[in-house]
Amino acid sequence: MKILRFDIYSRVLHWSHALVFLWLLITGIALFFTPKSLLGDPFIKMAHLYASLPFILLPLIIYLRGSISIRNDIIELMEWRKDDLHWFIELFKNDKTDVSGKFNAGQKANFLVVLLLIMGFSLTGFLVWMKSMFSRSFVELNFIIHDSLAILSILLLTGHITLALYYSESLKCIIYGKIDAAWAKEHYPNWFLKKN
Ligand code: HEM
Ligand code: HEM
Repeated sequence: MKILRFDIYSRVLHWSHALVFLWLLITGIALFFTPKSLLGDPFIKMAHLYASLPFILLPLIIYLRGSISIRNDIIELMEWRKDDLHWFIELFKNDKTDVSGKFNAGQKANFLVVLLLIMGFSLTGFLVWMKSMFSRSFVELNFIIHDSLAILSILLLTGHITLALYYSESLKCIIYGKIDAAWAKEHYPNWFLKKN
């Protein structure tokens, strides 16, 4: 038996945001390696800058106009409880961890870091975009922070994709929306009980 875990809004948000993110990563890396004098540079810069709009707006629009289910998911991902701290302690002790709701503490941490990355990229991106308004050293500092966030994102994404490939049932679920009931019962027992 299969049960619905991610509705269409959640999946569209996840994959459209992931695509925009990858586009920003690729164009960002291209900007980093393209000599500023090359003709291609302004094009890549525009391609990078325009993608920042959906990067910021997509999550907001889908949160405000999407389904109740996606709003509940986002609220739950932001809700930290005592059990979540316990989950990390158990994880480091290598014990079997209990998940209190639909997401475990690792997934909540991933969500929090993604939110912080969106804010960090937007702020530093805006400051380097408006570089003529600020001192050279301030702009350079923001370039360094922007680049460091890009490195952090690559590490985070590598971990995220590795886990998705390892837990293939979870990967199928973020693509098709439904999850195997037995798998859900084993990995998210409280959420499973609530659904049934
Ligand atoms: C709100 C989102 C973002 C905005 C507004 C933004 C804006 C900018 C701007 C204005 C530049 C400078 C272009 C230039 O003058 O050469 C830049 C460069 C860059 N961006 Fe972004 N960006 C954003 C998100 C991202 C993301 C998500 C990544 C990677 C995951 C990224 C990676 C880079 C890299 C690597 C550079 C090259 C920096 C350098 O030359 O040292 N950016 N970005
Ligand atoms: C090819 C790339 C990606 C794959 C294979 C992937 C896979 C997944 C999977 C399988 C889940 C569901 C976990 C569950 O069962 O609850 C998930 C959730 C999530 N993904 Fe991705 N993802 C990718 C790219 C991204 C990107 C680029 C971002 C950020 C911009 C992102 C942010 C999230 C967030 C915030 C969640 C919800 C919290 C969590 O489960 O960690 N993903 N992803």
